[in-house]
Amino acid sequence: MEKTILVGVTGCIAVYKSAELVRLFQKAGYRVKVVMTEHATHFVDPLTFRSLTHEPVAIGLFDDPSDPIHHISLAEEADVFVIAPCTANVAAKIAHGIADDLLTTTALACTAPLVVAPAMNVHMYEAAATQENLATLEKRGVRIVEAGSGYLACGDVGRGRLADLNDIVSATIAALEGDAASDGDQDLAGKHVVVTAGPTYEPIDPVRFIGNRSSGKMGYAIAQAAVERGARVTLISGPVSLDAPTGVQVVRVQTALEMLAACEDAFSQSDIAVFSAAVADMRPETVSDHKLKKSDTEDSAALQQVRLVANPDILATMAQGKRAGQVVVGFAAETNDVVENARKKLEAKRADLIVANRIGEGVAFGTDDNQASLVTPDGCEDLPLMSKHDLADRILTRAVEIGSGC
Ligand code: C5P
Repeated sequence: MEKTILVGVTGCIAVYKSAELVRLFQKAGYRVKVVMTEHATHFVDPLTFRSLTHEPVAIGLFDDPSDPIHHISLAEEADVFVIAPCTANVAAKIAHGIADDLLTTTALACTAPLVVAPAMNVHMYEAAATQENLATLEKRGVRIVEAGSGYLACGDVGRGRLADLNDIVSATIAALEGDAASDGDQDLAGKHVVVTAGPTYEPIDPVRFIGNRSSGKMGYAIAQAAVERGARVTLISGPVSLDAPTGVQVVRVQTALEMLAACEDAFSQSDIAVFSAAVADMRPETVSDHKLKKSDTEDSAALQQVRLVANPDILATMAQGKRAGQVVVGFAAETNDVVENARKKLEAKRADLIVANRIGEGVAFGTDDNQASLVTPDGCEDLPLMSKHDLADRILTRAVEIGSGC
């Protein structure tokens, strides 16, 4: 049977994007119903949603005389309820079980998965109250599609923009389909997993860069396995040619410094952080603003002597600020003394777990399989050759055990 996505629309300027969101859900093959707060109707006329969905738009608790308990029938019809945009006010109300209009009453009555995409002014978004309310919702298993950064309607610049619509669609479909496949282990529900993946490219000039051969497959497999187990996942990815796993929020970066900045944004809110990116150790000290020409004496000299400076160690930098209960996982790709070198990295970088790979012999780079050892302060578990997806699951299971003190 066709599944129903209930879209909750609350009163902020990003409401105009909800119309496009409805279209995207319809294009993905779902039936869509819309419930609006009274405030939302000041921004967009309900007729817009009625025309798009060919369904009545629900607004007031007592609007439908034929259905005196409208909030219950709406809640029961929904296979997933996504509130996008969700104002600070509505996030606060649903975090505290307040049900004083049709949308919030439906949220309280709804047993289907709930997805919340906040949008508001940067100061309202960053206010401790809002962050605590979103964290409360997340702990209960609500999927939060974090607001993005940029120019806001109020004129401020910062976080608070409604997330990219594709990210909202992915998170909603993952919540919907994940719930349908409820036989899968959802042991990461309510957890936030951050994963770095792929290489970094360090520019020399607008066309040349220093990079490495990482395909990103291991990190993408970890992100996919984590979302399948119910986690909210932020995947910070260097340049790769892989599709983002459904339901994962992807932050795309090019350089190590950009990757560090993205990690600084996401790390403090994470429960598990997996640093699988093959970060370039060095970057050119200066980046030419034009293509360096071999035929030009000065350019050619610059090309022959690209001066390099060390990139920050992202894992080590983040692990320094680790809080109790947060689990940090790193990788060590080695050609010899694999476990011994991994142990040194574990200590030097203050990680909780190092996944040690022997590289060469067709293992690790670019392949779909991987053979690794899981090195922790307590010991080392040698795993057989397995698919990167299976290895991803083993890594996450170990990280969960470490986080729970096992
Ligand atoms: O020191 P090495 O590069 O071998 O360490 C590998 C681990 O450290 C990986 O988990 C990698 O993602 C992380 N790393 C990092 N930032 C760097 C270098 C490595 O996060 N600049």
